[in-house]
Parts: sequence; structure tokens; C-alpha cells
Amino acid sequence: MNILSNLGTEQLQEKDNHFIHPWESMKGLGTNKRPIIDRAEGIYYYDTDGTRYIDGPAGMWCVNVGHGRVEIADAIRDQALRMPYCSPWTEGNVPAAVLCAKLAEISPGDLNNVFLTNSGSTAVDSALRFVMFYNNVRGKPEKKHIISRERAYHGSTYLASSACGKERDKSFMDANTELFHFVSDPEHYHRPEGFGDADWLEFLVKEFEDKIAELGADKCAAFIGEPLLASGGVSIPPKGYHKRILDICHANDMLYISDEVVTAWGRLGHFFASEEVFGIKPDMITTAKGLTSGYQPLGALFIADEVMARLKGDDAPDSYFSNGFTYSGHPVACAAALKNIEIMEREKLNEHAREVGAYFQSRLQELRDIPIVGDVRGIGMLGCVECSISSDSRDSLALDHEIGNRINEHCSKLGLFVRPLINMCVFSPPLIITKEEIDIMVDILRKGIELTMEDVRKEGVWKG
Ligand SMILES: Cc1ncc(COP(=O)(O)O)c(C=O)c1O
Repeated sequence: MNILSNLGTEQLQEKDNHFIHPWESMKGLGTNKRPIIDRAEGIYYYDTDGTRYIDGPAGMWCVNVGHGRVEIADAIRDQALRMPYCSPWTEGNVPAAVLCAKLAEISPGDLNNVFLTNSGSTAVDSALRFVMFYNNVRGKPEKKHIISRERAYHGSTYLASSACGKERDKSFMDANTELFHFVSDPEHYHRPEGFGDADWLEFLVKEFEDKIAELGADKCAAFIGEPLLASGGVSIPPKGYHKRILDICHANDMLYISDEVVTAWGRLGHFFASEEVFGIKPDMITTAKGLTSGYQPLGALFIADEVMARLKGDDAPDSYFSNGFTYSGHPVACAAALKNIEIMEREKLNEHAREVGAYFQSRLQELRDIPIVGDVRGIGMLGCVECSISSDSRDSLALDHEIGNRINEHCSKLGLFVRPLINMCVFSPPLIITKEEIDIMVDILRKGIELTMEDVRKEGVWKG
């Protein structure tokens, strides 16, 4: 029984219906019966009925060091008792100062300037506001256009959501369409027919150059991109893509923002993926999630010394970056992040993620033999299985949109939570997962996909 409640699952589900969850369906509002999770340990969740599930997505791609870390809980408690809060406007605090110096040390190149936020969205929003501020201070107020990509996800505040390229995320929402522009999702599986690997890269590069030419280089301020598009479906760009885009940005006096909210903190086997995996040193990096392994809400925006140098010093105009949050540099969240990073270093979780990640990827690839599996892709501890029910019928198209949910339903009954994304199942388990646990996870996934395949065969919508 939960320490906060002596209520049963149904009563809790009723109460939970007062909670408007992210991406809540309005039609079904108040009638949901979500599993209510009561506790967690290692890679497992336990619901209020005591049923155990493997946490396939590590919460929302964030519980990188796993659940139930007493050391992080102690760090949070100790800091809350010592000093729960002080104003980032007027004072420094010990955990924030030590954390920012640590972040500067482990981030790529000269990304030594850290702006702390409470989430990934507020880190991205701050990055976009910084880009606009930067060009205002430099006397280039026209230089404001931002180029993002189709299927990108960058967050839920107004500016961050304006950079999102997923149609479904925008269908009922407003966005800034004047300043935000989109080029193609670089994933090869979705590329138009007739492109080879090399042509595809050249197409993407030319499309980006054309977009800048169309908008005017003097009006283009920045490119924002995830090293791989996570919620877009683990979309991996062709080799060399990021370097080519970065070079074009610099040739046009544009900043390159790498959104590492998901890909940092060991997810791809390194603290950050931009340099170690994709070979670039961006001008700015945004991150959150695994920074505290989800134990506290915290985000960060890194800005390169080279960029900052253009705004500071005796010859620079007097300017203020008027952007910040009551909880910027929150001491309790920073204490959690410091302990989280200490654990990652001590337990060599980046190395572990590289080793076990290779095994995870090879096990996922085995699922290609299932007829409704169209593609399997991933890097490190991030993987995606994309399904398709190939037929021209409209029913089957609608079904393609819910296939991820159906697989998740089967997998949940078998003790595994999947992150369903339309027709995809995405996995980003806690980094501590072992090879044996990966075997169990992938075996359940196979069963879940096969059961779903049986269902659609019985329903007559799939003739395979
Ligand atoms: C790449 C990326 N950027 C930004 C965000 C927004 O982060 P948050 O939900 O912490 O605001 C997310 C969230 O999933 C993300 O995947």
C-alpha cells in the first residue's frame, strides 16, 4: 500500500482523472483507466496491484541510472534540509555552482557557459530566446528565422513547440509559423523512393541550403536539431549530415543548436552525443531528463565561449539576457544532478551503455523476421521497431496509427512497458539493464508483436 493513500486501484484511477496528462485526449477525458504506478526499483515499475513491469522507456527516456537510488534520495533530502532554495537572481548556491563547473568540464569543446532551467522545453525555449537576444545585441534584429526538421520534437512551451515538426503535435495547437521553418526528417527509411545513401545526404544538404537562400541568409538565425530525432521515431541521419549542416550554419553566420534532451547522459554511450557520436561541436546544447535521471526536474542550456565572446567585454553594448526562472539553479535539483553524474562516473555507465547497447541493438535486429516489422534502428540504449500493415485499405491505414498502442497493450500484460509512437515501439531502458534483462525484454516484445499480428490477421485487416 502506498504511504500517501490507502485507496485501491479503481479509486486512484478515478482521482487520476482530475489530472490532465500530457497529450490528453479530450474526448475520453475523465474516463481513463491508466495503470497507477506505486513504486519502482532498478529497471522495474510496480503498480498498485503489485504487478511488475520492465520500464522499457526509462520513464520518459530519463531514469538513466535506474529507480530506487538511495544515494540520490539522500542527496535530495540533505540539500532540502540544509537549504531548500535561494534566489538565482541575487545569490549563488553551492550545488548550482559546483554543477555548472562540472557540466562545463564534461561538455564538448568550449561549451562552458551553462544556463539552468527546469525542463527540456524551458532549455530549448531559453536557447531560442538567446538566439534572438544575441542577434538583437549584435545589431542584426532581422536575423531571427529558425530552421528545424519535420518529425522533430523540442518541447511544449510556445517557442519550443513552434520548432516541433510532428504534424500530430500541432493539429489543434497554434505555433509561430512566421519565424519557424522546416526541412526533411533525415531518416533513410522514410526517404522518398529512388534515393541511395549518398544521394540522400546530398538532397538533405541542398534542401537546407535552398531553405536558407529562400529565407535570406541575413534573416536566418539558427538551426535546431536533435542528434537523432527521438520522439520522431529514433530517426538517424546519414553519416556526415550534422557536420555538413553545421558548416553551412557557420558559413551563413547561423548558430547550431543541438537538442540533447534525450541523447545525452549515456543514452548513446557518452555524456553527450554531438561530438562523441556525430563528430560535431555545436554552438549550443540543450539537455534535461537524464541530467538528474528524472529524480528532480532540471534542464540546462550550454553556450560556447566563442558565441559569448561576441556579446561581452569592454567594447560590447550593455545588455541583459532577461530570461530566467524562479527555479533556475534550484539547489535540490542540482544536488540530485551532481549525485547522478557521480554515480554514472563511478559505475562507468557510459561504458556499460556502449557494451550492453551493442547487444541490445543486435537483439532488436532479430525482430526483422516478423512480417509486420518494417524497420529496426537505433544507437546505444535507444532503439525503435517500426511496424507496418501493408495494404491500401483505409482501415489498415488507421490501424497503422494504433499499432504501437496495441503492441504496448499486449506487452504490458506480459510485464513490459513500451513507448508506443503511432506505428513504432521505442525503447530506452535504464542504462543499468543487463544482457539477461535485455533478453527478457526483447522476448516479450517479440511475443507482443506476434500477438498483435495474430489479432489483425483474425480481424481480416492484415492478409500476411
Ligand atoms: C529532444 C527533446 N527536446 C525537448 C524535450 C522537452 O523536454 P521536457 O519534456 O523536459 O520539457 C523533449 C521531451 O521529450 C525532447 O525529447
